[in-house]
Amino acid sequence: MRALQLAFLLCSLPSLLALKTQDWKTCPQSAFCRRGRALAARATEAGSSWKSPYSVDPASVAIVPNEASFSAAVTSSIYPDIKFQLDLYVLQDGVVRVRMDEVDGLRKRYDETASWALIADPKVSSEVKWTVGKKDVRAVYGDLSVVVQFAPLKVALLRNNQEEIVLNGGGLLHMEHFRTKRQPPPLDDGDSDQEVLEVEKNLAAWFEGEEDMWWEETFKSWTDSKPKGKYLNMFNRSLYINYDTGPESLSIDIDFPHHGHLYGIPQHATLLDLPTTSGADPVYDEPYRLYNADVFEYLASSPMSLYGSIPLLYAHSATGATVGVFHVVGSETWIDVAHPSKDASHTHWVSESGILDTFLLPGPSPAAVAAQYARLTGTPALPAHWALGYHQCRWNYVSSDDVRGVQRRFDKEDIPVDVFWLDIEYAEEHKYFIWDKKTFPDPVDMINDVEAIGRKMVVIIDPHLKRASNYPIYKEASDIDVLVKKPDGEGEFEGWCWTGSSSWVDFFNPKSWGWWKTLFKTTPSAGGKYSWVDSTENVGIWNDMNEPSIFNGPEITMQKDAVHYGGWEHRDVHNINGMLFSNQTWQALYERSDPPKRPFVLTRSFFAGSQRFGAMWTGDNLGTWEHMDVGLKMVLANNLGGMSFSGADVGGFFGNPEPEMLIRWYQLGAFFPFFRAHAHIDTKRREPYLLDEPYKSMLRDIIRLRYKLLPVWYTAFRETSVTGSPVLRPQFFVFPGDERGASIDDQFYVGSSGLLVKPVTIKGATETTVYLSDKQVSNVECIYPAAF
Ligand code: GLC
Repeated sequence: MRALQLAFLLCSLPSLLALKTQDWKTCPQSAFCRRGRALAARATEAGSSWKSPYSVDPASVAIVPNEASFSAAVTSSIYPDIKFQLDLYVLQDGVVRVRMDEVDGLRKRYDETASWALIADPKVSSEVKWTVGKKDVRAVYGDLSVVVQFAPLKVALLRNNQEEIVLNGGGLLHMEHFRTKRQPPPLDDGDSDQEVLEVEKNLAAWFEGEEDMWWEETFKSWTDSKPKGKYLNMFNRSLYINYDTGPESLSIDIDFPHHGHLYGIPQHATLLDLPTTSGADPVYDEPYRLYNADVFEYLASSPMSLYGSIPLLYAHSATGATVGVFHVVGSETWIDVAHPSKDASHTHWVSESGILDTFLLPGPSPAAVAAQYARLTGTPALPAHWALGYHQCRWNYVSSDDVRGVQRRFDKEDIPVDVFWLDIEYAEEHKYFIWDKKTFPDPVDMINDVEAIGRKMVVIIDPHLKRASNYPIYKEASDIDVLVKKPDGEGEFEGWCWTGSSSWVDFFNPKSWGWWKTLFKTTPSAGGKYSWVDSTENVGIWNDMNEPSIFNGPEITMQKDAVHYGGWEHRDVHNINGMLFSNQTWQALYERSDPPKRPFVLTRSFFAGSQRFGAMWTGDNLGTWEHMDVGLKMVLANNLGGMSFSGADVGGFFGNPEPEMLIRWYQLGAFFPFFRAHAHIDTKRREPYLLDEPYKSMLRDIIRLRYKLLPVWYTAFRETSVTGSPVLRPQFFVFPGDERGASIDDQFYVGSSGLLVKPVTIKGATETTVYLSDKQVSNVECIYPAAF
């Protein structure tokens, strides 16, 4: 019988693994990714004969007087009638911003991503002089310079005359333009020469390939109607009823000729030093994907999308110099990564929609890149001190008495804890804000019992609103018309989540902002409007499922043709969507009391800029050693992406960890900036006091160690809130000049405290190796007993 069971397990393993991935697209299943990779393949095949068709019209170059910026007209030889404008700005700290958009296209491309990600319009330098030559425009400032080559178009950032970041050096820039269905490539007016027509057509086919799902796209049982342009004067936009505006993807190659290590673009379950996806013998076949997604039981090593997306990449060299690229696109994006040589990197970014808006961060150190990024998108908010303590969560503490009982047990066993959490079962029929009074008859008394001894509660508020007329939150949102719309732009979009049939607030609609704030007020509102009198001014909020997760949607999320405020399709704003939810919740908590208290908001989905609105965690990890291990790498990558206040479910969300694993997980989690134990509803209870000795005492000691080190954590958070340097720092960040440390991602430093942490994530390990880097002495490897 046992043998049989084993055989069954072995046979079913491949399909179990496939189960975890089949709901999400691979690049070959995504038309624009396929087109982008096909373009790269054609370029590779053509070799040195490949030439980018894009060029700057030298006569159009206009330097903005007294400002470090210039603009120029760009055309593509394939579609000479299509016009683009290139704008280039040098910012006060030497960062270069490159923007390109189509001019007078059939429709406007989405260009508002930066307005959500950036804290302000970046200040342009006044120290820069531009020189316009016959073949290029260049600006020199200090040891940096930026050169825009006219034909083919290429933009390079140089330090000491050496190219550090190069855009379109490989000729993969391509901004698909909106077009009328099945129109042949346009020619110059009046040109009727058949030969020229053929040449143009061939050129277009050579560069663009065949039409590939330009007008409509299917995946499994879903059809993406790509409705842009079909709306009738909706939201005061122009009437494009006669046009099918088709493809709009954006491809660009970004090369780092002198940097052999790449980090960032979280969030992916992978190594910190990003494994290759293209070039010779790539580690992964698929590009890294940024498309916020609720991936059930995600793989521990994969370039697949996860819950959050930060299009920020660090490129690091053997000599210790670091540069960065921040590619501000909010639509689905795939990124191929290759190392043409040990000391060089090539990346290729393909996004479904949006304009080119790319910041080149000159570094030259990892800390300088982090600071440059923070000046653009903001530093992490400084958390309240209590939020750095230990958080106890599970799905679910099932009643007020359960919460009180858990609190009593922690006190009885003298195990420190600061925060108790409530998951979705507190809410009647998962109607968030509305307590299930059968199990939580006295919510404010319960919260007061927790707060009375200086602790806090965090309660979950998900973004899906049950479509029930007796649910005041849904009713009010519907009445004031702030819900996401169906593809026709008319009715409320509907999908399924925990609460059954649901709708989603469209936080892109400014009308939703003031309303959302009123919901969190703890005093009655005027006019019978809803306010959360069943809560207190200290309650923190957990925003989950905000990718958004939609159980019956394509790829478990919102269909791309759903419509947001302004007539924009969900495809344009998908990766930004989750950030707007935690942003508005953060604002609501900030305005809940007078004077304001520092809000605590945890989000699962995030984008560039989310660090301003609180903490994130790595979602539904598995209770396996692999997931424990990759969780550390993910938290490090998120820290590089600005999300310093990050952690992973301690103990693993799924599964029942044996004591050894649980202890190791707490030892790791106690050194995550956000330290929370959490578990799935089907798992056995595993609060630290439930373990037998000696394990219980071990857990108590680990949690106490966290508390002893609170000054270190608070200081590190204070520092990141000022400089943007992450709270958790990988080896290369602290010792950039030591190339041996460049790929180390199993140990890290806490702020600038000098505290080096090497967690043990291997079952049965009794000793571990710690890498010490010190230029003055020598690089040392020490073996320490792995206390257990
Ligand atoms: C999601 C969250 C998980 C939570 C569950 C129920 O799966 O990732 O943390 O417990 O929803 O709310």
